[in-house]
Amino acid sequence: MADGIEAAWDRVAELARTPGAGAIRPLMADAARAARLTRRAGDVLADLTKTSLSAEVLDALLALAGERGVLAARDAMARGEAINTTEGRAVLHMALRGPRGAFKAGSEDASAEVHDTLDAMRAFCARVHGEQRFTDVVNIGIGGSDLGPQMAARALWRAGMPMRAHYLSNVDGHAWEAMRHGLDPARTLVLVASKTFTTAETMANAHLVRDWLRAGLGEAEAGAHLVALSTNLKATAAFGVPEGQVFGFKDWVGGRFSMWSAIGLSVALACGWEVFQALLDGARRMDEHFLSAPAEENLPLLMALAEVWHVDMLGYPTRAVLPYDERLGRFPAHLQQVEMESLGKRVTLGGLPVSRPTGPVVFGEPGTNAQHSFMQLLHQGTTPVPADIVLVANPDHGFEENHRQLLANGLAQAEALLRGRDATEVREEMEAKGMDAAAIAALLPHRLFPGDRPSTTLLIPHLDAGTLGQLVALYEHKVFCLGALWNVNAFDQWGVELGKQLAGVLVPELAPGAKPGAHDPSTTALIAEIHRLRGE
Ligand code: F6P
Repeated sequence: MADGIEAAWDRVAELARTPGAGAIRPLMADAARAARLTRRAGDVLADLTKTSLSAEVLDALLALAGERGVLAARDAMARGEAINTTEGRAVLHMALRGPRGAFKAGSEDASAEVHDTLDAMRAFCARVHGEQRFTDVVNIGIGGSDLGPQMAARALWRAGMPMRAHYLSNVDGHAWEAMRHGLDPARTLVLVASKTFTTAETMANAHLVRDWLRAGLGEAEAGAHLVALSTNLKATAAFGVPEGQVFGFKDWVGGRFSMWSAIGLSVALACGWEVFQALLDGARRMDEHFLSAPAEENLPLLMALAEVWHVDMLGYPTRAVLPYDERLGRFPAHLQQVEMESLGKRVTLGGLPVSRPTGPVVFGEPGTNAQHSFMQLLHQGTTPVPADIVLVANPDHGFEENHRQLLANGLAQAEALLRGRDATEVREEMEAKGMDAAAIAALLPHRLFPGDRPSTTLLIPHLDAGTLGQLVALYEHKVFCLGALWNVNAFDQWGVELGKQLAGVLVPELAPGAKPGAHDPSTTALIAEIHRLRGE
């Protein structure tokens, strides 16, 4: 079996060594290839034709997926097996949006607990919306307890929806300083969102905001404004959250996959229960595709295979996410955590060093803004950066001309990355402008575009809760496939621990008059300089 896997990798590598392996333009006329690389999953149309996946390469990658048992691993996840081996946990975010009775974690009925919590959340939303006492909801959380719900609320909130949502994540007091001025404690509901309820930044902010509630309302009343979203029910009680205002979830929900759980309550409160339910339903639709589509039609798998080709075979170590929709402004940030915290791994499940690069750096901004900041590098930089371009066919505003411009720009970026611009074209353009031969010769190299730069276009009809749920779940499943292909645990995050521990040691050393402990000379000197600058 291991030999089969290595042979499959070798076959892909052999194709990658073929001259012109990264070329895309020569492949574009192949209609049969286009049919294989243009896929619909639910409402998402994915066009992977602007990549250098030839039919042969795709076959070799699919053979690799077969050897690696990606779809069998998917089924093990769905069965609730403890596939997060370093933490001994199942991985069941699909249960959060699945039907009753569908998922088990060991002998536990995962779906029953999910639906009980959803019922409680729905009843809570109905009460809050019915009372009309609260106008604002503040979600205090960080990482997965912030990025997913914040991204979704920003994408889905429309004028007239029940409440305004605010997201307090950074321990930087400026964040709360800026937020609190617009808020009235009497009209504000505060959600403390933390899977562990121990995250230092979240707890520091939770104390600040609880003090603000108590100062404005008195201690007895403040409790009624506090809600906790957590797996740590002991700690939520100790913090003073009334029992009926605690919404739990289980440890088989990873933080970066938790926006579908109680962690999503801010979305339901701000946008309404129907919107949150539609988000879950959208994700479920993508789950159904992922769980049932054969490998060659399975969109998350195909996107993962394209990533393997780019990262491991062509040596493209980054990827850009470019949503052409302002409302998806936090989508790249959410994907950064989903992808980089999952796939930033350097050892296999068995603890051995990986033999190929794993997770790429993911970054992004909405288009068209991205075009005026970093797209230069994608067009003319030294290393290609594959781009995911998300297009929304229909806007929710009436400014049709703006929307045509937006769509045209998204299409144009993908087209420009693909086709590039050769010397003949550039020279002719400069000659037509009447430039002399010396000026043309001097400028020509600067104005060439190499082309053959990959992109994947994802097209959805509208941006609504259903399509957003599908999009996010698509990337979650892509991450799963990559974890299986690279044989790494995509569901732990030990790499975040050391910095947390060291910060814990440093906090008391930054108190006035405190002496630094044992550090490297750079850190020791910086501590001393901070004390000096703070007059301590
Ligand atoms: O530090 C990383 C992390 O553990 C993420 O995985 C998680 O989403 C985030 O911190 C917040 O954790 P919690 O929800 O437990 O506060």
